[in-house]
Amino acid sequence: MTAQRLDGLAIAQQIKDEVAREVAALAERGIRPGLAAILVGTNPASRVYVNSKVKTCGELGIYSEKHELPETTTTEALLHLIARLNAREEIDGILVQLPLPRHIDTQRVLDAVDPAKDVDGFHPVNVGKLMVGEPGFVPCTPAGIIELIRHTGIELKGKKAVVVGRSNIVGKPVALLLLAQHCTVTICHSRTVDLPAECRQADVLVAAVGRPEMIKGDWIKPGAVVIDVGINRVDNRLVGDVEFESAQRVAGHITPVPGGVGPMTIAMLMKNTLYAASSRA
Ligand code: GUN
Repeated sequence: MTAQRLDGLAIAQQIKDEVAREVAALAERGIRPGLAAILVGTNPASRVYVNSKVKTCGELGIYSEKHELPETTTTEALLHLIARLNAREEIDGILVQLPLPRHIDTQRVLDAVDPAKDVDGFHPVNVGKLMVGEPGFVPCTPAGIIELIRHTGIELKGKKAVVVGRSNIVGKPVALLLLAQHCTVTICHSRTVDLPAECRQADVLVAAVGRPEMIKGDWIKPGAVVIDVGINRVDNRLVGDVEFESAQRVAGHITPVPGGVGPMTIAMLMKNTLYAASSRA
């Protein structure tokens, strides 16, 4: 028996189709959602992601603009750009692609985004709303992960979820979302004493560490839902954080890399941008 593949490309397409329909409905009321994406420096992966986000906006009828700034950009300059975007009526969503160059104060930058335009859900106000269970912007990758799991039809209530990775972008928020779905959640990280043993307990395993094929097939509980957030380039090939070949023989459902979580992130960003525009309208 091999695991069922969770086809992120197909599910993301359904979400984008729905967003495109709602964008068209807003257009009839004279409203056009707008996204500003900020890219600082020369990180090639970040450039690919930002271009992909801007391109998807175009496909769905969302206005977008890309702000490309040099590696030497100061925190102050970035804060100034964000202040201008916060003030502009036609911009509903502001996205600062991470990671920023090391000399930039990332938290000060994220704090400067108007929480009502924070389509990435990284502003402390939205982080806090997620924590207390109030509606707000939810980070795109974690939201996409929950959507993928929902598509398995598996009831999350009471399940044991293990999240490997504790980043602010994926690990911590996805753990809160799984908790809100009534999972018993364990967050593992580099200092976890026996990671294989923790993973073997997981009915739902979310791997978000950025280490190629670190999680092996024999760490996986038979029938588990395995969500691989890793996108690692190895010998010009993309691999996840999970050793796919061995894992798919044990898991019940598994996301491929590429074509799993990645496309979902962009689809949820489009959804958040639509939501920002409709709530501001
Ligand atoms: N870097 C990695 N993931 C993300 C994301 O979802 N949004 C932004 N802005 N940067 C990221």
